[in-house]
Amino acid sequence: MDKFLIQGGTKLRGEVRISGAKNAALPLLAATILAETPITITNVPNLKDVNTLVELIAGLGVTICYENGHLVRADTSTLDNQFAPYELVKTMRASILVLGPLLARYGTARVSLPGGCAIGSRPVDQHLKALEALGATIEVENGYVNAHVDGRLKGGEVIFDMVTVGGTENILMAAVLADGVTTIRNAAKEPEITDLAHMLVKMGAKIEGIDTDTLVVTGVEHLNGCEHAVVADRIETGSYLAAAAITGGCIKTTHTDPTLLESVLEKFEEMGAEVTRGEDWIELDMQDKRPKAVSFRTLPHPEFPTDMQAQVMAVNTIAKGFATISETIFENRFMHVPELSRMGANIQVEGNDAVVTGVDKLSAAPVMATDLRASFSLVLAALAAEGETLVDRIYHIDRGYEKIEEKLQGLGAQIKRVSE
Ligand code: UD1
Repeated sequence: MDKFLIQGGTKLRGEVRISGAKNAALPLLAATILAETPITITNVPNLKDVNTLVELIAGLGVTICYENGHLVRADTSTLDNQFAPYELVKTMRASILVLGPLLARYGTARVSLPGGCAIGSRPVDQHLKALEALGATIEVENGYVNAHVDGRLKGGEVIFDMVTVGGTENILMAAVLADGVTTIRNAAKEPEITDLAHMLVKMGAKIEGIDTDTLVVTGVEHLNGCEHAVVADRIETGSYLAAAAITGGCIKTTHTDPTLLESVLEKFEEMGAEVTRGEDWIELDMQDKRPKAVSFRTLPHPEFPTDMQAQVMAVNTIAKGFATISETIFENRFMHVPELSRMGANIQVEGNDAVVTGVDKLSAAPVMATDLRASFSLVLAALAAEGETLVDRIYHIDRGYEKIEEKLQGLGAQIKRVSE
């Protein structure tokens, strides 16, 4: 199993190119199922999760190729089944996103239930309830969702009980081919949903209310292919800016979009960092200073994203003062806390709140990555710590951060991958 060996203490400086967003690429790939003519997606990040979904879509019979690691071409004319097996779905929850498109286009789908994951139980009840509201018959049997509709789905009213990113994406991809108008209320407004909506519109879909919590979709009978570039990864952007903040350095992230992570940039400014925004770049200069502790609460977009909680917590561990962090999206997303504590962090957790009191220094220790974003928080802590830290189980990080060690090395970090 691969590990990272990180020698802390270097202030990171330089430029880093941000990749396309994993969380946008996955729904965009699922949406290729809806296209009757070939479709091309560019700026696709070269990641394990993307490979998993490409493999799943290929298993449906779709002719799909993943060229140069950044361009996907798909042709659904060869699709010959609507089955997503447990072996692939269990490794990545986002596989459930093929359910809506398969059902909408072919009237049938058999997709494995994803099951729980480290950060919480993460059910898909909202996805299923929403598809039923469009006329689907759904049975859950032997760990599989069997979905069926006679003819086309029928437009209807969907009201989500909570804001769900995946649920909104699934139902949006189903509604675009339904017969009639679908209104999706309490829809998630994450930039990755906007990106999906824009690609669907290029394919011929009719969607109003993009970027708001009410999406009104007028179904069409056919959708065509198009060419679309994946939006920049706001979480990767924020993660590298956090690396400048925690090491007292200065990092410019390029090929990104400052409008996608304003809530996070505001927190970095509150820490005392100088944040400069360009059209497609952001620079964070910590000016050799120690950051000030910042409190925040995770909430749906445009508020502070849960996917940045662990990284900003890591910065708080060495900050001046103390901060309260409330996690409101997932019930078990503090698994990085015991690992950060092993490195000398002072964090008290009570339920979904954590109080972080900044310490003068972190010290190296062997630590274990537990989930994707938590892993980056351990890398951040290691970059700031005294000594050499070994981060184990980095397969989590490879799911969502493209070329992480190359990018960090380019900023001056002393990081190497070791295999055992
Ligand atoms: C997506 C992101 C993930 C991010 C999360 C929240 C992708 C591939 N993943 O995950 O990185 O952390 O949004 O921004 O885009 N819920 C239910 N029932 C449902 C659906 C969701 O109870 O049917 C709950 C979940 O357990 C969770 C909350 O709603 O507590 C939000 O989940 P959701 O927004 O659906 O997250 P994902 O789409 O899985």
